[in-house]
Amino acid sequence: MSLDAFERYPLLFGPSPVHPLDRLSDHLGGARIWAKREDCNSGLAYGGNKTRKLEYLLPDALAQGADTLVSIGGIQSNHTRQVAAVAARAGLKAVLVQERWVDWPDPVNDQVGNILLSRIMGADVRLGSDGFGIGFKDSWHQALDDVRAAGGVPYAIPAGASDHRLGGLGFANWAAEVRRQEQELGIFFDTIVVCSVTGSTQAGMIAGFAGQDRPRRVLGIDGSAKIDETRAQVEKIARGTAELIGLGRDLRADEIVVLEGWAGDLYGIPVESTVDAIRLTGRLEGVILDPVYEGKSMAALIDLVRSGDIPKDSHVLYAHLGGQPALNAYSTVFN
Ligand SMILES: Cc1ncc(COP(=O)(O)O)c(C=O)c1O
Repeated sequence: MSLDAFERYPLLFGPSPVHPLDRLSDHLGGARIWAKREDCNSGLAYGGNKTRKLEYLLPDALAQGADTLVSIGGIQSNHTRQVAAVAARAGLKAVLVQERWVDWPDPVNDQVGNILLSRIMGADVRLGSDGFGIGFKDSWHQALDDVRAAGGVPYAIPAGASDHRLGGLGFANWAAEVRRQEQELGIFFDTIVVCSVTGSTQAGMIAGFAGQDRPRRVLGIDGSAKIDETRAQVEKIARGTAELIGLGRDLRADEIVVLEGWAGDLYGIPVESTVDAIRLTGRLEGVILDPVYEGKSMAALIDLVRSGDIPKDSHVLYAHLGGQPALNAYSTVFN
């Protein structure tokens, strides 16, 4: 089966914008850096990478007769906020389990940003006490049971819409979109930089690019500080997605690259390089990054360009995956 054979529920404005970051490129004095903007990919509650993934999960939910999307994440989860938006858009309900994935002392952490937006959109937000973990949690199973007990039909969406049969399709489609945009722009991005935590964003890209005519590096930057888990998850989803879209060959180990070194010690806690990257990108480009994901992948991009690991003649595409609503819970970092 090819990617085109899977049903897609259009949720985006169209192809997400691609544009150069010239002042950042000049400042670093190396590769030419461009961004592809999932943070403004749709009109749904500030968009983000999950909206793209949900384009493929939503038809499955509707086909199963579901009336409630059930998902899980941290208190400031971007993913659950996008599930709430997509549920609203499709006329479904949303039950969101939001756990203490980050030990972050901000007094308004559970009242502003993503969780506020989910509440505005009418989601049933349930605060849980468990710590970080991208696997299948009891709390999530409980929420599914609760919907069934109340006579509803739940559709289960795991953390980040990742460990799901269709989880990689959204970004396999992104890879095809990049190829078309390259043809329009007359450019080839030899290196992609992308933040990885639950894995299906990078995994989908890997599977999608693997079927194209020219090789390129897809550099995943771990944002979870659990590199072995992130790598294993990216690999599993990349292989599953490649098979699903009929790649017709095994992925090679060198196609699955997840780098560590920029997450700090804990998921969700920005370190100095994160804050520096956020300030630099804001001051040079007016582009806003978040402290949990994109600030960390941009810190990596900056270091890799400075060290020459990404060569000077490279054209780099930075996947901006969204996440800015969480900034509201991190104001103290920038005071
Ligand atoms: C803003 C942002 N960037 C990056 C990621 C990482 O994507 P994935 O979980 O698909 O690896 C996420 C979600 O986890 C996110 O919300």
